[in-house]
Amino acid sequence: MRLPDLTAFRRVVFFTGAGMSAESGVPTYRGAGGVWKQYDYHRYACQPAFDRHPDAVWEFHNYRRSLVAACEPNAGHAIIARAEQVLPSVTVVTQNIDGLHQKAGSENVLELHGSLWGVRCDATGERETRFDVPFEGQRADGRWWRPDIVWFGDSLRDAVVSAAIEAIRGCDLLVAVGTSAVVYPAAQLPTLARQAGATMLEINPDETPMSAAYDLCMRGTATEMLGRLAANLPSD
Ligand code: OAD
Repeated sequence: MRLPDLTAFRRVVFFTGAGMSAESGVPTYRGAGGVWKQYDYHRYACQPAFDRHPDAVWEFHNYRRSLVAACEPNAGHAIIARAEQVLPSVTVVTQNIDGLHQKAGSENVLELHGSLWGVRCDATGERETRFDVPFEGQRADGRWWRPDIVWFGDSLRDAVVSAAIEAIRGCDLLVAVGTSAVVYPAAQLPTLARQAGATMLEINPDETPMSAAYDLCMRGTATEMLGRLAANLPSD
C-alpha cells in the first residue's frame, strides 16, 4: 500500500504508546532501558504494593514525575496536535500517562491508563490533577492520595474505554504509534477499527504481534514517520 494522504480522512484516531514519547526522553516500558527492566512493578505499580508501602510507591512515582516534567513534546506530538486543528475529527487514544499530547496542544485525548498527574483518594472518592514535583502523597488527615494510574491488576475506567471504542469504531484511519501491542485490553482496541473497515497504519521501528492487522507498517521513529504522513497537512 502507498502512503495515504492524511488530509483525505475525516475521522482519524492516533493510538499511541510509550514509543510516541521516546524521542522526548521518556523511557519506554520494555526493551533496553525500559522502566520494567529497572523496576519491579510488583513493588511499585500495583495496589498491593501501595497498600503495603505507599511511601515507596510514591517515591517511584515522584521520580517518574520529575523525569517527565523535564521532558517536552516532540515533533510527532506537535503534528498530531496540528492534525486536530485542521482535520474534521481527530482523537488521541493513548496508553501514555505523561501528558505530553496535551502539552503539545491536543485536546481530544483519551488516557486509557490514567495520568501521572492525576491523584485520587479511594477513601473519600476525591480526584485531582496535581503537577507538584515531588507530590506529597500523605494527606493532612493521614489518608493517602494514590496515583490515578491504571496499575497492574487494575481495571480500565469504563467511561474512557467506552469513548475510545466509539472513536475507534467510527474512524476511517487509525494510526498506531510506538506501542508494543502486548498489554491487554488496550492492545486489541485497534482491531475494532479494522473490523469497521478503517485504513490501518502502524508506526514502529520494530514489528509487533499486531503488525498483521495493519495495511501499512512504517518502520521508523514516531517523529520521522509522522513527518512523512503529515507532509500534506496545512501549516498555519
Ligand atoms: P512499550 O515499552 O511496551 O513499547 C514501546 C514501543 O515503542 C516498542 O514497540 C518500541 O519498538 C517502540 N518505539 C521505541 N522507540 C520508538 C520511537 N522513537 N518511535 C516509535 N516507536 C518507538 O510501551 P507500550 O506499548 O506503551 O501500562 O506499553 C503498554 C503499557 O505497558 C503501558 O501503557 C504501561 C506498560 O506497563 C501501564 O503502566 C498500565
